[in-house]
Amino acid sequence: MTTHIRIFDTTLRDGEQSPGASMNVEEKVLVAKQLARLNVDIIEAGFAFSSPGDFEAVHRIGQEVEGPTVCSLARAKPEDIDAAWKALKGTPKPRIHTFLSASDIHLKHQFRMTREEALARAVDMVKHARGYVDDVEFSPMDATRADISYLCEVVEAVIDAGAKTVNIPDTVGYTTPQEFGEIIRTLRTRVRDCDRAFISVHCHNDLGLAVANSMAAIYAGARQVECTINGIGERAGNASLEEVVMGLRTREDFYQAGTQIHTEEISKTSRLVSKITGMVVQPNKAIVGANAFAHTSGIHQDGLLKDKSTYEIMQPDSIGLTQSRLVMGKLSGRHAFREELNKLGYSLTDEEINAAFERFKRLADQKRELFEEDLEAIVSETATKVPERYSLKALSTQSGMNQVPTATVELDIEGEILKETGTGDGPVDAVYRTIAQITQTKSKLLSYVVKAITGGTDAQGEVSVRLEQDGETVTGNGADTDIIVASAHAYLNALNKLASQLERRKDTGKKIGLC
Ligand code: KIV
Ligand code: ZN
Repeated sequence: MTTHIRIFDTTLRDGEQSPGASMNVEEKVLVAKQLARLNVDIIEAGFAFSSPGDFEAVHRIGQEVEGPTVCSLARAKPEDIDAAWKALKGTPKPRIHTFLSASDIHLKHQFRMTREEALARAVDMVKHARGYVDDVEFSPMDATRADISYLCEVVEAVIDAGAKTVNIPDTVGYTTPQEFGEIIRTLRTRVRDCDRAFISVHCHNDLGLAVANSMAAIYAGARQVECTINGIGERAGNASLEEVVMGLRTREDFYQAGTQIHTEEISKTSRLVSKITGMVVQPNKAIVGANAFAHTSGIHQDGLLKDKSTYEIMQPDSIGLTQSRLVMGKLSGRHAFREELNKLGYSLTDEEINAAFERFKRLADQKRELFEEDLEAIVSETATKVPERYSLKALSTQSGMNQVPTATVELDIEGEILKETGTGDGPVDAVYRTIAQITQTKSKLLSYVVKAITGGTDAQGEVSVRLEQDGETVTGNGADTDIIVASAHAYLNALNKLASQLERRKDTGKKIGLC
């Protein structure tokens, strides 16, 4: 019989801890809605106590996203658990996830607690959380470096206290598949009635073993896996959701286990998270990399032409990778536009539809045919828009061999129109320097990536930039058939996000860390 493995997605919490991958509330809500379409079991929407932004994200996702359980992280402290509950109130299926370290290294050097004190605190905090909700998860952090007898004691005590899920984190990505499988087996045999709770695993990828360790844990009896889209997360990242899910789907015969994930949504979810976080997916990444289904060797192609099973263990359409579908053209109307968005699974408000339709019309003037990916880009641009302090009115550039690249930029800054001309090392550099000059901003450009959304010479170029200022990092996106214009939009989008993030920080202070 196939065992159901719960997929606990932590893209919005641990994933957001990737350097530079911070998301604003609108972006988190958009990703959460896509995670619901992917049909994950649990969404860890944030760490409510850590910042007003995280609190609002947990609250809004709990109110607006239908289907999955919505979870907030909380340290093993009453104030954290109270904040988690406050953010989750009204959520149909709320979960509080509380954690405290179990390894002597953490307890001695970081928490300055004895094992006994930590165990008593864990039990108290699980009970405190159970005062609010039935669905409580506890994580003994750094479990893979903890003394196994103590770990068994903690797991048994928190289950007795009411934890419904006990998550075993490999916090620093230290374990290996054989060892981790053994840890899970030991817990299942030594903890009294261990199956009263779901045993979950949470693996980091420091040694490149996060997925292998998660699979070994499933084989040993774990029933929940914590993972992120594209494997993003603290340091080298977390176990990648798409790899765990497709591993189980492809090798169900071996694991006798499966998930409820709608795998055809995987490719779209991966694109959305990559776009919003600005974290590029490497081409050779399993499942969602651009080359994951590209066969170039003659022998392989010959085999595939004769029978797909010769070299293909999964079909591209199983993850939603189909031929780009032509959906609309210049003459398509608002009604057809809305219908098409509904078909793609997006339900936008009237106001969002109007803004998206405007953008669609402008694009349809430049590009005769619009594909699914073009509509996705329009929707994510519209749904994640921040208040626009700076907007582009006009732009022209001159560049070429033996010319000094020059840009003339006209911006609307809160109603005032300002225009300047400047130079740079190339046309994009000239545009960026001129915008920085007009806006009097001092951000640092951390990365600049351009890619084509669809094929053909009239494809939209999608530009993603990452900017940093005063410790805040943001990602800005822009799409246009002209990549210089797309570059300007991406830069301004990032500047607008920076402005609203810095403004917000002035009011609310900086986000606190995990420990
Ligand atoms: O890696 C880790 O230990 C965590 C815990 C908070 C579960 O992210
Ligand atoms: Zn983690």
